[in-house]
Amino acid sequence: MPPAPSGLLKPANGSKHEAAAMARKHGFPKLSASSKALVLLPLLLLGFIYLFVYPKEFELQALMSSCSPPLGAYTAAPRRLAGEPPASRKPDFRLLIGVLTRADNYERRHLLRMVYGLQLAAGDLTAHVDVRFVFCRLYKDDQRVLVPLEILRHGDVIILDECEENLNGGKTYTFFSAAARLDRDEPYDYVMKADDDIFLRLPRLLESLAAMPRDDAYYGATIPCDSMDPFREYMSGMAYALSWDLVEWVATSDVPRNRTVGPEDRMTGQWLRWLRLGGKGKNRFNAKPAMYDYPLPAPVDKCSHEFVPDTIAVHRLKDNPRWAATLEYFNFTAGLEPSKFYKID
Ligand SMILES: *[C@@H]1O[C@H](CO)[C@@H](O)[C@H](O)[C@H]1NC(C)=O
Ligand SMILES: *[C@@H]1O[C@H](CO)[C@@H](O)[C@H](O)[C@H]1NC(C)=O
Repeated sequence: MPPAPSGLLKPANGSKHEAAAMARKHGFPKLSASSKALVLLPLLLLGFIYLFVYPKEFELQALMSSCSPPLGAYTAAPRRLAGEPPASRKPDFRLLIGVLTRADNYERRHLLRMVYGLQLAAGDLTAHVDVRFVFCRLYKDDQRVLVPLEILRHGDVIILDECEENLNGGKTYTFFSAAARLDRDEPYDYVMKADDDIFLRLPRLLESLAAMPRDDAYYGATIPCDSMDPFREYMSGMAYALSWDLVEWVATSDVPRNRTVGPEDRMTGQWLRWLRLGGKGKNRFNAKPAMYDYPLPAPVDKCSHEFVPDTIAVHRLKDNPRWAATLEYFNFTAGLEPSKFYKID
């Protein structure tokens, strides 16, 4: 017996009586014992779902509403579209992805919101993921109107007050410190810094992160390009994650605070190795070759190679043709239904 359509769960006022009246009028046949059982079974199941599943939903919603900044369309686990089955498991861990970008990159943010929004809406992620766009202080009048518009619509922007947009000016340090402060009440397990020219495949990233220890962890793609040793230098700035304890350490220790200016990602590696023996980030994971630069006809180094099916991330997507080639390889538009409204050859 197919499950009752969910519309029947919330009948409009009085429709129950109407249904009963209809049944009397049309004289439904008398039910045998086994068909009564068939009718009762879904009802029992519904009761079960109400008792055991919804309390969890309420818990998650309470959890959501206490988050700051306000949650936009980019929150994975607790969101559920009407008609989808209720989430059946608690997320394994919580990940914040901070996409460091510039206020003026409106078009790129539009693309990234689609790319991450589609993955989050697919409903198959095992962790809670928040994607946020991170800028330094706004410095133009048009930004002071257009960015608030995005915040109103999407609620997924973090504006750092303590930095200026210039290369190697300490934005990474400011981001991690701000994350430690803003999310203190509801910490993430990992905070990832990502560029705005990287495509992250969330299901694969989460699968890979899930196997990491939850503390003292430093995850990414090792630099130099020809090295697979995560302890040799540092993780490429394309995207790397720190466990929450390290995020707090970055926010509070003198070591990073005294060394915020310089090539951002190398600095992160240097903070962690500062104390060498007994240093930080003892749990390291190199995600290469699953994280790589966009394939070039003639690769300049070993960070770039052909697309591979188990990809976690593709970097250096500087323009729309590169994004399109990448999204096509990963079948991003495969679910598009034919329609009279468009024709795409
Ligand atoms: C950081 O700088 C302060 C002030 O210059 C100094 O007192 C402190 O020892 C430095 N700490 C580290 C870990 O370098
Ligand atoms: C994309 O879809 C094709 C056809 O179904 C399949 O052969 C291929 O493995 C898919 N690619 C990836 C990366 O999943």
